[in-house]
Amino acid sequence: MKLLHLDASILGTGSVSRELSALIVRRLTGDAPAAVTYRDLVAEDPPHLTAATLPGAHPVSAMAGTLDAAGQDVRDASDRMLAEFVAADTVVIGVPMYNFTIPSQLKAWIDRLLVPGTTFRYGAAGPEGLMGGKRVILALARGGFYGPGTASVSAEHAEHYLRTVFGFMGIVPELVLAEGLAAGEPNKAQALASARDAVGQLAA
Ligand SMILES: Cc1cc2nc3c(=O)[nH]c(=O)nc-3n(C[C@H](O)[C@H](O)[C@H](O)COP(=O)(O)O)c2cc1C
Repeated sequence: MKLLHLDASILGTGSVSRELSALIVRRLTGDAPAAVTYRDLVAEDPPHLTAATLPGAHPVSAMAGTLDAAGQDVRDASDRMLAEFVAADTVVIGVPMYNFTIPSQLKAWIDRLLVPGTTFRYGAAGPEGLMGGKRVILALARGGFYGPGTASVSAEHAEHYLRTVFGFMGIVPELVLAEGLAAGEPNKAQALASARDAVGQLAA
């Protein structure tokens, strides 16, 4: 198995999404040998999307012209992020909800993935995802409740956005959810227990 593991929480050791993503990786790898690439997107802090920071395979990257040495380093890092995603057969992502959506560090990483001709293409029938067969597991942590029937359902822009993005590339992500983490200790304990249980139910 070639596994790519990413985290994006700013809360360090107190992070729920980091705990769950690590648990998922342990569940999937067990004692078997696995090539795991780990990226802490908060530590790496990939810069915002520009023509210069796009991977070289993206047609718009040419607009940046010739890059200086520092710019080329950033381009190389973008090329590496795209290549790691394409090469992985399984991708595990710790996703905290901040301000109703995903952390901007994770958005910056995703901005390096949507490259026409590499992860999707435009065909006669419209866009077609080219990453089908890749397994993506999201460990999503959020303070409130956003499920169907809740008052906040329309404010959920993390899970919904990620389903859209990965769906565009031909992937149906699996989800481990811990929600209501800010709704008091009993709710938090229950959410953590049910998320840990969900990890145990994942196909290894
Ligand atoms: C800066 C910040 C913004 C947050 N915004 C939201 C939010 O919009 N909705 C929500 O349900 N929870 C929100 N929370 C709560 C987090 O989703 C919750 O703490 C979760 O555990 C974050 O994942 P983490 O522990 O892996 O960092 C926010 C927390 C922080 C620190």
